[in-house]
This record gives sequence, structure tokens and C-alpha cells, in this order.
Amino acid sequence: MKSIYLDRGGLERPKSSTTTPMMEQFWAAKKEQPDALLFFRMGDFYELFHEDAKTASRELGITLTSRAKGADAIPMAGVPVRAMEGYLMRLVKKGFKVAICEQLEDPRHVQGMVDRGVVRVVTAGTLTEENALEARENNYLLALYVMGAEAGLAWVDLSTGRMRTSEVPLARAAEEVAGIGPAELLCSNLLFDSLPALGAELRDLLGPRISTRDPWCFDREGAQRALQKHFKVATLEGFGIEEDSPSVPAAGALMEYVEATQRSACEHILRIERADASQHLVLDRATRSCLELFRTQREGRREGTLIEVLDATLTPMGARMLNEWVAQPLRQVEPILERQRAVAELAGAPFLREEVRALLGQVLDIERLVAKVSTGRAHARDLLGLVHSLDQVEPLRTKLAEVQSVRLFALREELDPLRDVVERVLRTLADDPPLTLREGGLVRPGFSPELDELRDIATHGKDWMARFQAEEIARTGIPSLKVGFNSVFGYFLEIPHGQAARAPENYVRKQTVKNAERYITPELKDYESKVLKSEERARDLEYDLFCKLRDELAREIPRILRTAAALAQIDVLAGLAQRAVELRYVAPEIDEGEVIKIVEGRHPVVERNPRAEAFVPNDSRLNRTDRLVTILTGPNMAGKSTYIRQTALIVLMAQLGSFVPASEAKIGVVDRIFTRIGSADDIGRNASTFMVEMIEIANILNNATARSLVVLDEVGRGTSTFDGLALAWAIVEHLHERIRARTLFATHYHQLTDLGTRLKGVCNMNVSVREWHDEIVFLHKIVEGGTDRSYGIQVARLAGVPRELVERARAILVDLEEDHEGLAPRIANQGKPVDLQGSQQLGLFESPQSRLEKELAKVDIDRTTPLEALLLLRKLKQMRG
Ligand SMILES: Nc1ncnc2c1ncn2[C@@H]1O[C@H](COP(=O)(O)OP(=O)(O)OP(=O)(O)O)[C@@H](O)[C@H]1O
Ligand SMILES: [Mg+2]
Repeated sequence: MKSIYLDRGGLERPKSSTTTPMMEQFWAAKKEQPDALLFFRMGDFYELFHEDAKTASRELGITLTSRAKGADAIPMAGVPVRAMEGYLMRLVKKGFKVAICEQLEDPRHVQGMVDRGVVRVVTAGTLTEENALEARENNYLLALYVMGAEAGLAWVDLSTGRMRTSEVPLARAAEEVAGIGPAELLCSNLLFDSLPALGAELRDLLGPRISTRDPWCFDREGAQRALQKHFKVATLEGFGIEEDSPSVPAAGALMEYVEATQRSACEHILRIERADASQHLVLDRATRSCLELFRTQREGRREGTLIEVLDATLTPMGARMLNEWVAQPLRQVEPILERQRAVAELAGAPFLREEVRALLGQVLDIERLVAKVSTGRAHARDLLGLVHSLDQVEPLRTKLAEVQSVRLFALREELDPLRDVVERVLRTLADDPPLTLREGGLVRPGFSPELDELRDIATHGKDWMARFQAEEIARTGIPSLKVGFNSVFGYFLEIPHGQAARAPENYVRKQTVKNAERYITPELKDYESKVLKSEERARDLEYDLFCKLRDELAREIPRILRTAAALAQIDVLAGLAQRAVELRYVAPEIDEGEVIKIVEGRHPVVERNPRAEAFVPNDSRLNRTDRLVTILTGPNMAGKSTYIRQTALIVLMAQLGSFVPASEAKIGVVDRIFTRIGSADDIGRNASTFMVEMIEIANILNNATARSLVVLDEVGRGTSTFDGLALAWAIVEHLHERIRARTLFATHYHQLTDLGTRLKGVCNMNVSVREWHDEIVFLHKIVEGGTDRSYGIQVARLAGVPRELVERARAILVDLEEDHEGLAPRIANQGKPVDLQGSQQLGLFESPQSRLEKELAKVDIDRTTPLEALLLLRKLKQMRG
């Protein structure tokens, strides 16, 4: 827009000269942040102009006005500074970016127009406002960089400062992104052309939450330099990141974006952690969703999930850490036991636990408070909140003095009461400071002599005048001398005309009024300027003192965050202990062995369903000899899905260090858990196609190892019976023969139970039901052995399907069963487990020969008309092919 003036050559600037240079400021800021809505500070408002104004008016429902008139009119919309945060968040939640353009100078000290500049760009991934964030969840900004067949990822929660990186094969990039679940993703704008499939997948996943960046943002050398500068290290190898890793450019682009949006050093990002998958029990996206760890499949809610059951943490930091523990349980025995022993110690010491939790209950979100300090957004109450939280540390250390478990002991040692920090804040800040920073009331009396004097002058002006008057009367001997004030001359000394001759020499005559002469003295004028300015100066000084304190605190961030992390962990451990006691969980035995043995296991979520009947506990036994694969059959609604999930959940809980819902458990650690629900059953997915199911099965078969736990629910049901049965059969064989992964397979194909007698590692279980006059009663008890029938028709009847329909179905069933008798043995007799590489065709099903025979057998010649006979003949011919 600047160029308009230039283009117009000698044209005069618009009449109102104050608006035009300001609009230049606007355009300069806009040019710098073209893809953000610009909030342009003007006094008590943030104004938006031009297209931004129209957008904001539409999205926020605020009035669109205009600045200037006629041809010069500029669309404008504004939000009051006080209410700005709400509007800002609404825009960001809708996927907009907002650039905040502030007044950089104090208008009181500037003649004419104040300087303005963008101080921050707010985006979904860089939010730090507590109002905008879920306290118990992380808000990640994630950068993705693709290098050949590898992808590097770097992500940070700016509201807490935790930054991590990982590398994954390109094929798993989208999966990994989904697992992290970022609020915003950064990637090169070239990615969508060079890798359209990945691009499409990311768009599906994140939609408008993708911010594309210029390729130079991912430049390796620039990234190296930026990271080395931020972390003040010579090489990133200390973080375990190799120089040529694809996560270096990702991390560099991330830092670049953070700095560009925050305009502050972000000192609370202290280090980069490597997300090392080899340490963790890996759960893919489908597994996380199927086990309902964080969200239910049907409604996407937290109620009814594992996290909801396990989470008794008292601090947001603890809650976020528990999320991480659940998303990434451990794989090595020792670290698991270290956590478990700490939980056990707290579970076994009710008083200690209660006291520890009472103290934790007083602790605020230290991580997010520190982030506000680091980004210069903390106000005085934040600092007091921080201090109040840190005040709990010393007593907590005392309470934990006697702990025995290695982990608790180490955590206690990590706790730093930070007395120096606490005292510095308490010494500086007033007890009940306001939320604003520029209006005074922040600093404690007695902290700064200069401030005290300024305040004194402002509040005690009257006293001073009285004292000064008395002094002057004594000095001059004029009893009628008075000190006065008016807005034109300020302070003055007044002497009646009769006495005026006795005025001392240093009195400067200023004014003559009716009865008196008025004077000033240098001392009086000094004082006057002090008084008039003192309030303002006190406010400025308070602000400076506050900022100084905040900067001092910023230097202590590493210490504060270390203590915060220890508090978070203690919170998680004490929370798990609390749940263990409340919910009657036991400590599982953990070892490297191959046995999973759960006695009287319960489903942690289903058992708490208040509407359900009493939960029936069930045992699980898996090993790698005779119980490698469990085939679980039984009627609908019997509890098959519940049982196989509960087994997986108990393993997962055990490996994250928690106690488990069982009376006894022994868990030989697993490296991955895979769960798949057949597409026909998968209610959570709108694209419930058989293809998706098979892709995920392929994923399992390609990635599962002998240490994995595989949980399959009704796989194969998405296609015709024969296809599905054949696939299910082959999958079990493959898991049993090739992968040798411990497997639970719930299925309606009771024919599969035949495998139990044929393969050594396959055992059959079923859910017992009691049949009574054609009715069934669910016992929810898992017992040894297979079933030879389903109970779909009975269930349909229970559900109120019309009686005639049920009878008809029963008749059809009898017919069908006669038809396919001996199907399973035939499949099995296909020979040894299927050679999946080989070209051997599965001629599983009826040959044309037998179908012809069957068809012929059905014909009742006495009741066949000639026409029917002809049609039949044609059909038989077609069958022969
Ligand atoms: N052990 C148990 N004790 C008490 N109730 C249970 C138990 N297991 C399952 N249930 C109840 O039975 C209901 C059905 O369980 P589930 O979905 O596991 O059955 P299913 O055999 O998988 O059925 P379908 O064949 O239709 O998939 C659950 O909603 C739960 O309320
Ligand atoms: Mg089921």
C-alpha cells in the first residue's frame, strides 16, 4: 500500500495525516505476516483492517465499521484489549493464525505516533495460554522432514518446554504423526508435490492444522546453527542425535518457527529428548484406539477409557506425564519394577500417601507457569502461584525422608525447594498484586527505597505541604504564609500583601491575586515535579522491578523444571498407588519369560460400569508352547471382546508400572501389542471397509515378533463367510507357525476350533452360556474348549426380532449346517499349514462335482414341473462351468 503513494507521484497524502503513516505501519506488519490476521493495537483496542476485518467480523460476529470516509474508507473491526484473549482463542481454534502488533513505546512518552511491531504470532501449535489449553493434555507443535526413505520428526509443547525428536521409516511417518497427535504440523511446501500419498494422508489427519513452510526452513546447516545457538552446545550428538539425521532439519524448522512466532528466547526449552522406541512397548494407532486408552471409539470421550480409570493425579503435570506412560509403557523389566516398587511402597503406606497427596494438591502447573516466565507473559500472580507451589517442596522432602524404594528415593533427591527463588519473589512482590502489570501495586513496601519514596510522595503530599508551610513560617516569621496549589501554577507560597515586603530573597514572585502575592521557590518546584511525576514513576519503576524479577527467575528455569518433573513423577506414582488401593489391584510379577498368567483378571473399565451386572473375573494363560494362540468362541454378547481386551490392558498396565485388576498376575514382557477389530465390528471407524482391516492385518503380520501380543477380534468377518473363514484360518496358522507371537483370537467361526486339535500351540476357549428352553443365559465365564455353534439366532430373539423371522432363520440354519458339515476338517486337510509364499491354491471349497450332486439330491422329481426341470438343467450346466 505504501507504493500507492509512490505510484501517485506528487499526490498529497490523505488529509488526516495521523492515519496514513499508521496505515503504513499496518502494511509493514502485514507484509511481514501475510498469512496471519493482524491485531493492530490502537489504545484500548486491537483493530483489524481490510480483508482481516471482514474475516474477523464474519468469524467472531463483531461489527464491521470503516476508518475514514468516501473513497479512502477502510474496512475495520476491533476487539477491546481486555477481552482480546477470548476472541484470539476463537480464531486460533478455527485454524487461523493471529499476529499481535503492539505499541512498542509508551504513548505517554512519545510525541506523535508510537512505534509498533509484531510481538507474537499465535497459532494452534504455539499456544501457551492456560485458558486455551487442556491442563491435562499436551499441545504439540510438530515438524516433519523427509529424507529419502526416512522421516525425521521434532515436536515441542511450548507451554511446558518439552521437546523431542525421533526418526521413522517413511512408510510409518503418518502413523507416527497420528500417534503424537499434534495441534499443528510444520512441513515443507514441497512435500505435497513430492510425496502426494503422504501429503494426502496428513491432510486427512490434520486438515487445516498443517502449516507449510518454505524449504529453506529445513536447511540442515541453518538448523544445526540455530539449534547449537539455542541449546548452547557445540554438537547435537550429546542429545543422541546424529549430525546427518533427518530429525536435525525437522528440529531446526521447529525452532525457527517457535522463535518467529514467540519473539522470545524460550529458555524453558532446555534440551532435546530422543523418543527411543526400543525402550518402549509399542502401540500403534489402531491398538490405542481399539483398547480405548484415551478416547472411546464410539464417542471419542474420556469417560470410559483406561486413562480415566488410572488417573488420580493431582497436578496437571502429573496428568500429562501419566498420559505419556500410558501411551508408551516400558519394555525392560528393571525400569518397570522400579516404578512398580515405588507404587507398592506408596500403596502400602496410607498415611504417607495421603500426606504426600495433600501437598501435591497445593501444587499448580509449574511447567506452564515457567513457560509464561520464559516467554515474558507471566504476571505477578503467576509468580506467586509458582512460589506457593514450590513452598510445598520442602515439606514433601521431609515426608519422603524415610522412603525405601529406589525410585522414590531418587525423586526425593531431585526435589529442590529453591528457597532462594521463593524468597526473592516473596521479598519483591506484594501479597495480593493485581493482574495488570502497569498499574502499580506489584511490589512489596520496603523492597525498594526509591519506590517507597515515590509512593510516599504520592500518598503523603498533604503532610509534606503542612510540614513545609510550618518550616517556612518559622524561617520567615510570617505567620499568615500559606502553601497552596492550583492547576495553572502548581504549588506556590502565598503571602498577604501587607507582609509581602518580608518575603525572603529566594522567593520568586509569580502572580498577584486580590489579597496576596504568590511565589515559588526552587525547592517547591522540585517537590512539585516529584509529586506530579511520582505516581507515574512509581508505576514505571514497579514494572521495571517486576520485569527484573521475572528475568532473574528465567535464569533459574532449569532448576525449577527439574523439580517440577520430580513432582510430576511423584504425583503419577502416588496416583497409581491410590487407584491400586481403591480398585483392589495387585502388583503383577514381571519377568523376561514367555508366560502371561492372569488369575481372576477384570476389565478395568467394564468392571466399573455402574449399569452392568457384577463383573465376572476370568483367567488368562498364554505361553509359547501349548498356549501360544487362544481361539475364543462363544455367543454374541457373551464377553469375548471384553476378555481379550482385558488381557491386553492388563499387560499394558503392568508394563507401565501400574498394579492390575486381577487377584494374581505374572507378565512376561511383550515388545508390542497389536489389536485389531474386524471391520464389521469396528464401530469407531466410518470408513469401515474390509480393505482397511486387511491393511492392518498385513501390518501386524509384517511387524509382530515372537515377543509381541496379538489380539484379534472377529477378523475376517468383513467378507463372505468362506473368504473370511479361510483368511482367519490362514492368519492363525501364520501367527502360530511363522511369527510365534502370543495371540488371542475371538471369533464367530466356530470351525476354527478345529485348529486346536491340529496345531500344538493352539488352544480353544469359549464363553459359557446356560441354555434353558431355547433361551440363553450369559455367564461371562471363560472356560476351556471350543463351541460347535453360534447363538446368533437366540440373541436376535432376545433382542426382540419378530418371532416368525426367528423361526424362519432357525430353519435356514439347519439347512445350511447340513450343507457345510465337515468344512473345517476339509480346510485342515488341505495339508500342512499353508505355505504362504507357495503357489498352492486353496481349493478349499466344494468342487463343482459335489455341488452338482447336492443340487441333484435336492430335486424331488414327483413335484417338479417340466418347465422347472428345464430350468434346473440349465442351472446344472452353468454350475459345471
Ligand atoms: N466378565 C464379564 N462380567 C460381566 N459382564 C461382562 C463380562 N464380559 C462382558 N460383559 C458384558 O457383556 C457385554 C458384551 O460383551 P462383549 O462385547 O465382550 O461380548 P462379545 O462376546 O464380544 O459379543 P459379540 O460377539 O457381539 O462381539 C459387555 O458390554 C459387558 O457389559
Ligand atoms: Mg465382540
